[in-house]
Amino acid sequence: MAKLLPIITNPSPILRKKSEKIDKKELSSTKLQELCLDMTKTMKEKDGLGLAAPQVGQNIRLIVINTQDGPICLINPKITKRSWAKEKGEEGCLSVPGMFGEVKRHKKIDCLYFGAKGKQTKMQANGLLARVVQHEIDHLDGILFIDKAKNVKKVDLV
Ligand code: CO
Repeated sequence: MAKLLPIITNPSPILRKKSEKIDKKELSSTKLQELCLDMTKTMKEKDGLGLAAPQVGQNIRLIVINTQDGPICLINPKITKRSWAKEKGEEGCLSVPGMFGEVKRHKKIDCLYFGAKGKQTKMQANGLLARVVQHEIDHLDGILFIDKAKNVKKVDLV
């Protein structure tokens, strides 16, 4: 059974570290598969659109994302193409609770990654999905949306 993982919140050095690439030999390991499932459960339970491994305390290049076709796990994701066009959109983050802000992101991206079963896949994303992928990959490089956001708002949490 997948476990609910505790989420690391800002400030923490874990959220600021550049995460390590996952070794090819580990791609289909049980440990990694379990982490994917645990992160997916955690993302769903917390109503997140995505979740990056550093947010659950692991500095490795792994993210999970909620898509229209269900959740997917992206190992060593890399953006290989970015549209010239950018657009602004409101973002929040499970690791920065109670804060929202406007971030400019590329409208369209191509992303190359290894799936949960170790298969290399290319994804084309635009709009909200492209935004989420960019936000989560930023986490792997120690970047939080508040570093880029304008008009940051604080909301009182009940
Ligand atoms: Co985030």
